[in-house]
Amino acid sequence: MEQIGFGLIGAGVIGRVHARNVAARADAQLRWIVDIDPARGGELAAAYGARFTVSVDEMLADPAVQVVMIGSSTDVHEAHLLACVRAGKALLCEKPIADSLERARNCLDAARAANTIAAVGFNRRFDPQHLAVHDRVRAGEIGTVESIHIVSRAADAPQPAAAQRAGGMLREKGTHHYDLAYWLARSEPVEIYAAGGCLFDPGFATYGDVDTAALTLRFASGALATFSFSRRTAYGCDESIEVFGSKGMLQSRAPRPRSISLYQGGRVIDDGIDGHWYDRFASTYVAELDALIAAVRAGVAVEPTLVDGMRAQAIAEGAVESLTRGVPVQIANVWQA
Ligand SMILES: NC(=O)c1ccc[n+]([C@@H]2O[C@H](COP(=O)([O-])OP(=O)(O)OC[C@H]3O[C@@H](n4cnc5c(N)ncnc54)[C@H](O)[C@@H]3O)[C@@H](O)[C@H]2O)c1
Repeated sequence: MEQIGFGLIGAGVIGRVHARNVAARADAQLRWIVDIDPARGGELAAAYGARFTVSVDEMLADPAVQVVMIGSSTDVHEAHLLACVRAGKALLCEKPIADSLERARNCLDAARAANTIAAVGFNRRFDPQHLAVHDRVRAGEIGTVESIHIVSRAADAPQPAAAQRAGGMLREKGTHHYDLAYWLARSEPVEIYAAGGCLFDPGFATYGDVDTAALTLRFASGALATFSFSRRTAYGCDESIEVFGSKGMLQSRAPRPRSISLYQGGRVIDDGIDGHWYDRFASTYVAELDALIAAVRAGVAVEPTLVDGMRAQAIAEGAVESLTRGVPVQIANVWQA
């Protein structure tokens, strides 16, 4: 099978995940790594036999590059995405699409006008358990969706300054989960209320951010989603989903990677959940790449789309406003044509 040529922009945390996954495939070739940090980017390129450049344009000028993974910092996504669209490349843009709704809209409009195959990195949709819940909700197993509850607690908190550059918890963590809620409810979001605080690290408050939050999202259908977020746990990466409907309830619990139990005295001690987000979600980054490559080969659109990305971003902006003002905020539909 002919290999699809890839370029990757950004050699940081997520860039390394994408580089590993593209390079591991027989049906793809990782041709370029682009980064403004030559040491970091050069090292990653050397590890996978790709070429390195600091110039996005040099990578885009390679006609063998058909797909670009945008894993650079959020504040440069817009420039990178628009350049990829102009160059006629298919792309996957990491979430969030951009650092403002206006810039995200520019990306959406440009990609739409050029008919670009463009995915957003909402990898959670590819988690086998979350996907099974989704498919069974769609198949009608639990009837009409009435409420959704999503728990997301990261194992280790980032440094507050780094977290701020990523947009704060309600944007960074939130967009993944607002998208999951929409995907499960299949109804447009209309109102969000967010409460939060610094329960264990006042450093986040310096940047107007929180380490713990509880949010309520209302959909046009009347369904409600609630979210419980924390930046750290004392026991691993804790993520679960519950979808409650008129005929039943479906749950995707945090899986136990090993089913080993110690029976001793009057106690049973089970092995715990995954320790880190990458351990839990490694397979999802491979699956999102499978979907992207299949779409590029078939010349068809791929999900999650830029519209999905913008919807989640609009919810995030509403959540930040709600947290700041202490009131529910209406979500204007800025993601549809
Ligand atoms: N889908 C997920 O699970 C997931 C996980 C982590 C991060 N992300 C997203 O991925 C993006 C990157 O996050 P990260 O944690 O990898 O950040 P990071 O800081 O580790 O890496 C970003 C990289 O982009 C490079 N960069 C910055 N400006 C550039 C430019 N103008 N041209 C080329 N390279 C440039 C930096 O030098 C750095 O190497 C963010 O949008 C983040 O929200 C998504």
